[in-house]
Amino acid sequence: MNTGNWTAGASMPATRMRRNRRAEWARRLVRETQLSTDDLIWPIFVQEGDTAREPVPTMPGVDRLSVTEAVRAAEKAAALGIPVIAVFPNTPPSLRDAGGTESFNPDNLTCRAIRAIKKEVPEIGVMADVALDPYTDHGHDGVLIDGRIANDESIEVLVRQALVQAAAGCDIIAPSDMMDGRVGAIRTALEAQMYSDTQIMAYSAKYASCFYGPFRDAVGSSATLSGDKKTYQMDFANSDEALREVALDIAEGADMVMVKPGMPYLDIVCRVKETFRVPTFAYQVSGEYSMMAHAMAAGILDRERALIEMLTAFRRAGCDGVLTYFAPELAEMLG
Ligand code: PBG
Repeated sequence: MNTGNWTAGASMPATRMRRNRRAEWARRLVRETQLSTDDLIWPIFVQEGDTAREPVPTMPGVDRLSVTEAVRAAEKAAALGIPVIAVFPNTPPSLRDAGGTESFNPDNLTCRAIRAIKKEVPEIGVMADVALDPYTDHGHDGVLIDGRIANDESIEVLVRQALVQAAAGCDIIAPSDMMDGRVGAIRTALEAQMYSDTQIMAYSAKYASCFYGPFRDAVGSSATLSGDKKTYQMDFANSDEALREVALDIAEGADMVMVKPGMPYLDIVCRVKETFRVPTFAYQVSGEYSMMAHAMAAGILDRERALIEMLTAFRRAGCDGVLTYFAPELAEMLG
């Protein structure tokens, strides 16, 4: 990177790096990264029943919403110019089982929320996860057989889940389960069922992370989760492996790829973007949200400055967009 020529010119006083920083207009002129509301995806949580909203205790400022309230949220997002809303269900415990069968019920909470949003706010994009954890009584993303998460058996269920979501009107199917071969299987099934326009945003480099803790509270899977997800989610010590995962998902038919978590994994985002040059996203996950929300609430971080710096860092690393629970607040700031 650092060429001889480059350093040769870098001496004082010919080069004074501070010249381009001396005033706000000069800094604006040379700014490399621009922010826009177009870069935001807003994840929301939905729950059954008429209670409009119920706080998620580990995510200050985030509530679970009724389907009706989720439609209001989508209206708000559309008015703010947020392009996509992502729906995550808190399935009632009575509907969770070992095989995650509620995931492919065409009238499950997710499908009802997707249909309601697409009906009343057709201009917004709707995204939904494909993974079984909100539907299984053991909290895993796949089917548990003899104590193992069975890859191929899980894919059969995940394909059915993807199809009911596509039928409900979901624009972006987001496989977050990390089973091998799931993107290809879902793409083949979508094509066979005439859903050839349905996009896939693959959670390609999804790491086994403690930063998902508050999300699992929000969808109600923390209490039930047995063991960890290390046999399917990636080891956070690895980086080359993320490139293999991304390459596979692109080859299998993903339109967009994602790295998750976000801020501690921007090195991965950078490598993925530089290597593949495809639409690349990151998920600023629940634990990251909660850290920032607590620090801001305590007056330790300035809200506006922290959020703008955070989003800039994602974009600078190579993200085309970011999934963040701060999306509406950021959209308001970006005007
Ligand atoms: C489901 C899923 C998870 C998240 C998104 N989809 C949790 C997990 O894999 O355990 C985490 C999102 C967040 O923490 O905000 N597979």
